[in-house]
Amino acid sequence: MSQQVRGVIAPGKGEPVRVETIVVPDPGPGEAVVRVQACGVCHTDLHYREGGINDDFPFLLGHEAAGIVEQVGEGVTEVAPGDFVILNWRAVCGQCRACRRGRPQYCFATHNAKQPMTLLDGTELSPALGIGAFAEKTLVAAGQCTKVDPAASPAAAGLLGCGVMAGLGAAVNTGAVGRGDSVAVIGCGGVGNAAVLGARLAGANKIIAVDLDPRKLERARGLGATHTLDARDGDVVEAVRELTGGFGADVVIDAVGRPETYKQAFYARDLAGTVVLVGVPTPEMTLELPLLDVFGRGGALKSSWYGDCLPSRDFPMLIDLYLQGRLDLDAFVTETIGLDDVEAAFEQMHGGDVLRSVVLF
Ligand SMILES: NC(=O)c1ccc[n+]([C@@H]2O[C@H](COP(=O)([O-])OP(=O)(O)OC[C@H]3O[C@@H](n4cnc5c(N)ncnc54)[C@H](O)[C@@H]3O)[C@@H](O)[C@H]2O)c1
Ligand SMILES: [Zn+2]
Ligand SMILES: [Zn+2]
Repeated sequence: MSQQVRGVIAPGKGEPVRVETIVVPDPGPGEAVVRVQACGVCHTDLHYREGGINDDFPFLLGHEAAGIVEQVGEGVTEVAPGDFVILNWRAVCGQCRACRRGRPQYCFATHNAKQPMTLLDGTELSPALGIGAFAEKTLVAAGQCTKVDPAASPAAAGLLGCGVMAGLGAAVNTGAVGRGDSVAVIGCGGVGNAAVLGARLAGANKIIAVDLDPRKLERARGLGATHTLDARDGDVVEAVRELTGGFGADVVIDAVGRPETYKQAFYARDLAGTVVLVGVPTPEMTLELPLLDVFGRGGALKSSWYGDCLPSRDFPMLIDLYLQGRLDLDAFVTETIGLDDVEAAFEQMHGGDVLRSVVLF
């Protein structure tokens, strides 16, 4: 048995996305079919469309989603039909070398559905980040479903499934921002602004937001930035140093992921400070830095995959904070759109005043 639903595919490198009929198989052992209620448009979906992640076209895009479990396969005990869940791309295996060392946030063998979703002609689809949620229903591994309080709005909750968790976790988990730290965030889209929010949650007392777009900076102020810098107005490194007593910030988060922003992050950081790279570079990008500066400035150069989160630990807790009014996830939902509007939402990413466009079903 299988079901046919509508979904957004990226057919080939750089080609516009389009809505197609998707065949979703019934869940096999360890799998679940989820009726998607909301799915945010993340820059990583655009990276997929542009061939920046890999060449496994066609992709079924969308990976920042919440919905209701509809069917579960054999042996699934952690979720049941009717559960409200956030989809995650870190269903930890418990067996790999990272899991065995007690570091499941680095799990190297995360679970995805085993059966493929296909087009009507049988062409197998590659679901973005093993999820594929710009579709009315999607097939995932049951471990990719994290049950949270159903009082949360699906549009807001779904954002924890990728961008907001990535940014928030880059600050709180990877960067280990603590009370009294100074933090700078370069690039304040959905991910960077979530890092701003995370820095505030962690007790940073100076939070410097950097972007090329004054509207993004305005949003950063609303989420906790104490200072904002328009990167077009001059030297970002100098400006961050000026705001931090001439020294640089304790933690600098690069939420753009380009060699020039990484270099800014590297030099805008205080001695012994931490750089966190959360923006995703493309394959042709390279970085050159004086090795003596890498040594001489000390500290840590880290990359953050998915905010080093553990979905089962972090999603329910963050949803509770949201429901208590302590984590403004709604601020990230700039517009709600239909399944046919994903291509237009990609356009909005270049030049639009949008943190997140969220597809509602
Ligand atoms: N590491 C992870 O686990 C993870 C998870 C999700 C997304 N990401 C990545 O994070 C990055 C950001 O995602 P997003 O959805 O927030 O994207 P976005 O396009 O919404 O935001 C990017 C922001 O950076 C700004 N910007 C661009 N160039 C800049 C520059 N030179 N200086 C300052 N600001 C600049 C833009 O104006 C925009 O506001 C992407 O590369 C995405 O793929 C990483
Ligand atoms: Zn593992
Ligand atoms: Zn994403």
